[in-house]
Amino acid sequence: MADKMSTVETLSPLTADGIYRFFRSGEEETLALRGVSLRVSAGEILAVTGPSGSGKSTLLACLAGLDEPTAGTVRVAGERMSARPEVERASLRSRHLGVLFQSANLFAHLSIEENVRLAQRLAPPKPSSMSAGGILDRVGLLKRAGAVPSQLSGGEAARAGLAVALANDPPVLLADEPTGELDGATEQRLLTLLRTHADRGCAILVVTHSPDVIAAADRVLSLHDGEVVS
Ligand SMILES: Nc1ncnc2c1ncn2[C@@H]1O[C@H](COP(=O)(O)OP(=O)(O)O)[C@@H](O)[C@H]1O
Ligand SMILES: [Mg+2]
Repeated sequence: MADKMSTVETLSPLTADGIYRFFRSGEEETLALRGVSLRVSAGEILAVTGPSGSGKSTLLACLAGLDEPTAGTVRVAGERMSARPEVERASLRSRHLGVLFQSANLFAHLSIEENVRLAQRLAPPKPSSMSAGGILDRVGLLKRAGAVPSQLSGGEAARAGLAVALANDPPVLLADEPTGELDGATEQRLLTLLRTHADRGCAILVVTHSPDVIAAADRVLSLHDGEVVS
């Protein structure tokens, strides 16, 4: 029984166990994360909220394997992400994670379609992968496929960022304030897209301040001074 339980545990799409992140710059020391644990299940949208400086972006970077926690373990699809060489983290990221950060994940000199294709070339193909056109159609950008990022409106850029994050049909999507600069209607449209992906089995973690995103989430985790508060 115990074995069965631990198997279920390790195969969870995303888990963090006791994450600490300590920064030292000169004389200044910051404990940005103080023992954060979380789990996101397939099909679930978890909203992470908290005041500025509470550690949300640091947490996301640790979950994405873009930063290394000082202590604690991150697992993605049952595989350990933390405390591994960068090349292994990058491989894990390309196979299992879609990442949508505030500073959009788009290359300025490439068209939207080329951005999606580039992301697809960085990961091994899988049976469930869609064509770049199919993904752009899903986020309502097929007609803008040839545009470069500077030609897009804020809402279009947000959806283009989502298209890149979803390019490889990742089982886990991490997003840092994806609707931060969007109007209400565009935010709702993005939320509908996120829910569609959750319904297809994607585990989604969204850092947000938006009451609408929080209301649309299945669960909310609040951070304060690097700790989870209930
Ligand atoms: N690279 C870094 N070096 C030093 N301190 C950092 C660094 N990144 C974040 N911090 C500090 O960690 C704390 C949490 O920051 P952050 O995760 O960006 O918070 P949030 O995203 O919730 O606004 C803040 O006090 C911030 O100043
Ligand atoms: Mg932040």
